[in-house]
Amino acid sequence: MTSAKWIEHFGLMRAPFGKDVADADLWVPSSRKRVVERLVEACHERGHVLLTGEPGIGKTCVLRALRHRLPEAGFRLTYCHNATLGRRDFYRQLCGALGLAPSATAAAVFHAIAEHVRELETTRVHPVFLLDEAHLLNQQVLEHLHILSNYAWDSAPLLSLVLVGLPELDERLRLRTNRSLYSRIHSRLHLGDAGPEDTAEYVAHRVAIAGAAQDLFDGDALAILHEASAGRLRDIDRIATEALRRAARRKLKRVDRKTLSASFDADELD
Ligand SMILES: Nc1ncnc2c1ncn2[C@@H]1O[C@H](COP(=O)(O)OP(=O)(O)O)[C@@H](O)[C@H]1O
Ligand SMILES: [Mg+2]
Repeated sequence: MTSAKWIEHFGLMRAPFGKDVADADLWVPSSRKRVVERLVEACHERGHVLLTGEPGIGKTCVLRALRHRLPEAGFRLTYCHNATLGRRDFYRQLCGALGLAPSATAAAVFHAIAEHVRELETTRVHPVFLLDEAHLLNQQVLEHLHILSNYAWDSAPLLSLVLVGLPELDERLRLRTNRSLYSRIHSRLHLGDAGPEDTAEYVAHRVAIAGAAQDLFDGDALAILHEASAGRLRDIDRIATEALRRAARRKLKRVDRKTLSASFDADELD
């Protein structure tokens, strides 16, 4: 059965658990709304933020929700997920974020930044540098982030750093060498695993957005899906998609317990 056929079988407009979620279609339950609110506040206060969470829990999607919330006129957001950059390339990116011609050295960047401040002050645009996968950051870059985070103009920080990564990022920042940077990050947020009711809500949300007229998963199936994925959204996406394909092959209208259980391991053919 081709993917189009299983989508058709359930009367959906598209695959419900695809990676390409439009910003307006993001699932933002109250627990995540709080995280997004904290991020929004920190940016308004020109502070720095640390956001950690397990892989696939939805960190990058939270950043997208943030982008949606910050007024374009007041903020210039730059997203960088190329965390393995060396210092020189990192600075090139940073200059890009600030709308400056790329400079290779720290000294040149600082000079360019200082020059740029007056303009920023008059336009009142605050740059926010979103560093995704920051647990992979090069140590030299981390050390420079400290200098940047510390760099202030009239005591208001020039830019906000939003460091996003796996829980080990937090451990890494606590190390003695990175402590000064850590101490400047006042908002430290953790995106915890979703509970069973979150999994059910997430699945219902994505299925509804894809055009389903009814629930496509039995309660039992949802409970097993939650256990198998530990509430990590990327794993939910993968298992739920496989379960829908299987259910369609069996001509079922909903995914039942048995079909879901057979879907963890794509090698198990039916
Ligand atoms: N708020 C959300 N709304 C809808 N889908 C989401 C949301 N958060 C995560 N997802 C789904 O889970 C997948 C993994 O999320 P992502 O943000 O990339 O995780 P992380 O950055 O923590 O590894 C996404 O591709 C998307 O399909
Ligand atoms: Mg991510």
